Amino acid sequence: MSISATPRRIGLIGLGLMGRPMAMNLLKAGHALTVWNRTASRAQELVAAGAKLAKTPREAAAEAEFLLTMVSDPPALEEVLWGHEGKNDGALGGLRAGSIYIDSSTISPALVRKIAAACAERQVRFLDAPVTGGDWGAREGNLVFMIGGDEATLKEVEPILGVMAKKWFHLGPNGAGQTIKLAMNGILALQVGAMAEALALVIRAGLRGEQLIEVMQASMARSGVLDVKSPLMVKGDFKPSFPLRLMHKDLGLMLDLANQLGVALPATAAAREVYSYVKGEAKEDLDYSAVMRFWKK
Ligand SMILES: NC(=O)c1ccc[n+]([C@@H]2O[C@H](COP(=O)([O-])OP(=O)(O)OC[C@H]3O[C@@H](n4cnc5c(N)ncnc54)[C@H](OP(=O)(O)O)[C@@H]3O)[C@@H](O)[C@H]2O)c1
Repeated sequence: MSISATPRRIGLIGLGLMGRPMAMNLLKAGHALTVWNRTASRAQELVAAGAKLAKTPREAAAEAEFLLTMVSDPPALEEVLWGHEGKNDGALGGLRAGSIYIDSSTISPALVRKIAAACAERQVRFLDAPVTGGDWGAREGNLVFMIGGDEATLKEVEPILGVMAKKWFHLGPNGAGQTIKLAMNGILALQVGAMAEALALVIRAGLRGEQLIEVMQASMARSGVLDVKSPLMVKGDFKPSFPLRLMHKDLGLMLDLANQLGVALPATAAAREVYSYVKGEAKEDLDYSAVMRFWKK
């Protein structure tokens, strides 16, 4: 779905595993980009490539026709948007009436609604737009966006999304994007957790993990995520691509939403316990496929 873009003034806040390559693709497409990151040194490569570095989230939003945020979790996003007591440094305070704000962090639908109300007060249009595709998809401009919000607003941002994504889905009003994203990550967490259990069984029985993977890839049990993650799980290579701490956060957000909606998710609740254990034991940042370590204890 790549669309050629007219240069626009874009602010981007959050230069982690995902935000940095997304920002680089926006720069490469010729947009005027202002970035802010809590750890300013992470902006070096982007500044060398032509991005302007803002001193505060407010400053990153102030000139922007479009503002994007890509931070870790709901508390991080609240801090960036509303700023610090008495400092007047939050991005919301900088956004101009008529601008469009797109949040791609994975957060709760409840926070989406709070942000939507704050944006409406300022005549700012807002889309929740979480992504899937991992850091690899962010580098290649191959992400998939899940959008909640007004369809006409989405039409306006499509040329910008086209720089970062191969596809996007309009899923309903604000909050719909995050709801689908959380449900999808629940499936990924369970798939990878199930693969880890099956590998533990096969290896303890004296067989090789590769044998299970080979058969699985020729069967109905095959899947994109298992094709990518299972060889790494057998090798014990858990370099973070989608960090376990973020998957753990998403399982918590999914269970909170289920609780609000009165839906029981017993398998998701059990999976979160396992992810919690591995997160608690880890000394370093690990990919979520390190859930495999549970059976090594
Ligand atoms: N990685 C993936 O494969 C993937 C895929 C789809 C969706 N996501 C979602 O995308 C979002 C970003 O993921 P990521 O992998 O880029 O995470 P990450 O590498 O951990 O980066 C997190 C970003 O949030 C910033 N941040 C954290 N706490 C903050 C605070 N209190 N105030 C201001 N900034 C704060 C970090 O700043 P510092 O640099 O200062 O720490 C960093 O820029 C998350 O919501 C994640 O769930 C990730």
